[in-house]
Formats: sequence, C-alpha cells, structure tokens
Amino acid sequence: MTTGPRRVFVLGATGTIGRATVRALLQRGHEVVCFVRRRAGVGGQLAPQDSVRLLAGAVLRFGEVCDPASLAHEGFRGERFDTLVSCLASRTGAPEDAWAIDHRAHVHALEAARHAGVSQVVLLSAICVQKPLLAFQQAKLAFEKVLIESGLSYSIVRPTAFFKSLSGQVERVRCGRPFLMFGDGTLTACKPISDADLADYIAGCLDDASRQNRVLPIGGPGDAITPRQQGEQLFALLGRPPRFRQVPVALLDAIVGVLGAAGHVLPAAAAKAELARIGRYYATESMLVHDPATGRYDAAVTPSTGTDTLFEHYARLVNGAEAPERGDHAVF
Ligand SMILES: NC(=O)c1ccc[n+]([C@@H]2O[C@H](COP(=O)([O-])OP(=O)(O)OC[C@H]3O[C@@H](n4cnc5c(N)ncnc54)[C@H](OP(=O)(O)O)[C@@H]3O)[C@@H](O)[C@H]2O)c1
Repeated sequence: MTTGPRRVFVLGATGTIGRATVRALLQRGHEVVCFVRRRAGVGGQLAPQDSVRLLAGAVLRFGEVCDPASLAHEGFRGERFDTLVSCLASRTGAPEDAWAIDHRAHVHALEAARHAGVSQVVLLSAICVQKPLLAFQQAKLAFEKVLIESGLSYSIVRPTAFFKSLSGQVERVRCGRPFLMFGDGTLTACKPISDADLADYIAGCLDDASRQNRVLPIGGPGDAITPRQQGEQLFALLGRPPRFRQVPVALLDAIVGVLGAAGHVLPAAAAKAELARIGRYYATESMLVHDPATGRYDAAVTPSTGTDTLFEHYARLVNGAEAPERGDHAVF
C-alpha cells in the first residue's frame, strides 16, 4: 500500500462534502487536483475565481465531467495520479440527472483514472442505497457495483444524514412557526454527521487499510435522533415551549399518486413526482444500517465517527454564529 502524500484527483469538490474533503486531504499533506465546472455551486453561482478561492491550496482544472474527452484532456491531462476521490452527485436527484452524474460520469471518470495510473478510489455514496427505491439510489448502486468489480482498491463511504439536511426548519421555528414532522415525529431516526467529521473520515480512507475494499456505512457521534427530538431541541435552544404540526404520511402518498399519474402525460409532473417520492422516502425511512432479514433499522450497528453533534450545530445557527446552508433541495 502506498503511504505518505498522494496525488489525488477530486470530483465534486465544490459541493458541501467535497469542499470539506479537499480541506481534509490538504491538511493530511496530499497534493489535490480538483476537476470542476466553470459555473459551479448551487444555481451556478460560483465563477471560476470563486471556486479557486473556495478551494485554496488545491489545483483547479475546469471542464465537463460528463464528457470523457474533457475529463481526459482538461482533467487528467495525461498525468499520473494515485487516488480518485469523488464527492460528485446529482444536485437534484432527478432520474435523468442522477443516471448522468451518479452513474455515467463516474464510469467515465473511473476509466480515465485507471489510464492515469490510479490504484485507489474513495467514493462518497449514501446510506439510503441499502434500500434502493429511488432512481438516484439505483444509479449510485449501479456505479458502486462497477467500482467494486473494477479491481482497483475502493472505499465506498455511505454516510447517514448531513447537518444541512436536518437544519431546514431552524429559520421557520425561530420565526415562531411550529416544527413540521411526519406522523408523531418518531417514524425515523438518524445519526447525523458533520461535514468536517465526514470529510476527515473520507480522507482517512487513503491510509486506513481497514477502510479499503469495503462498503462503509457511517454516522456521527452519539445516539440516533428522531425528528421530534430535533424539534424539541430547537425550541429548548430558543427558550420556547415546543409546538409541532403533524403531517400525515398519507398526504405525501396522495401527492405522489396525483403527480405520478399526471407524469404519464406531463414531463414536469413526472419530475415533481420523483421529488415527492424522495420526500416520502425520507419521511418514512431511517438513515441507519438496515437489516434486510428483520426489515428494521438498527442504530446500535450503525458505526460512528467524529465529535461534532447536530445540537451544537443548531446552537450555532440559533445564536447566529453560523449561517444555514441550503442546497437545491433540502430533502437529501
Ligand atoms: N444530504 C444528506 O443528508 C446526505 C446524506 C448521505 C449521503 N448524501 C450523499 O452525499 C453526496 C454529496 O452530497 P453533497 O451535499 O456534498 O452534494 P452537493 O453539495 O449537492 O454537491 C454535489 C457536487 O457534485 C457536483 N455536480 C453535480 N452535478 C454536476 C454536473 N452536472 N457537472 C459537474 N459537477 C456536478 C457539484 O458541482 P457544482 O458545484 O458545479 O454544481 C458539486 O461539486 C450525494 O451523493 C448525496 O446523496 C447526502
């Protein structure tokens, strides 16, 4: 196994976990080359110089990850690399985009990486692919399979929920509105993981032999947390009595049904139906290790890493020490 500083080619560097991962790789002394698009970030708000500032310390190369020629000529440029780290993922989760990014772009990148001498790949995936009911999960799983069968050393990191995905209601609660939850708020649970803790875990895969050739479900520290507990903690931090509004899952089912039916004739409705299905999935499925034999999620066998807690993050959001980060969709 190679040790010491590596030449690392990074995809998805401008995303939430990508940014943190680039920092973690640089901290460990690796040479980092990021392949990013010219307009990056949510809604393409980052111009090239913004990405350069955001990823200070790394070398940036600009091009199109979906285009194999661009990957080869503007990305790898005929140079040798040791490791491919990918935090690349569809920003929308829409089926077409998910297959283009989470699957096809990765297949091309893997081929280009192999030509560049890469012997190790670290892939950011998601714990929810263990129960793949959605198009983006199937696309991710299809690439996981290609990677596992590639013969290269792989670490497939499947994290639980990110802080940003669990912070969407901080503002509405601060403004005096009730906390929304499905059912009684205990239908699901997760072990939230911070960007920095996950990034450190990903960067650690380069050196830790026990994380190689493995699929790695991973959560943050502490016990699993339900949506109800998230709401209770937010109200406690604001010094207010808890106020909840329960949303029946049947409402989501109705929305999925109506949009799904309309989607047979209207492409826009089909796209919205998939978003509603994504929402329904997270309303009812826990982000914990799933035992297919029992059909249950199990917090006790979901591994933990790091030290940052969601409730410390909430405290920083509530007292204004940190601003909320919102992606294209708050659901995943
Ligand atoms: N949110 C959660 O709670 C959660 C939990 C577990 C796992 N995950 C998984 O974690 C992964 C990454 O999450 P994240 O929040 O870091 O993602 P993110 O912030 O949405 O970042 C996605 C990255 O992929 C890049 N990308 C997307 N489409 C592209 C395209 N067409 N061309 C070039 N680059 C493209 C983005 O580049 P641009 O900046 O150019 O758009 C960005 O760098 C996802 O696979 C997600 O499923 C999420």
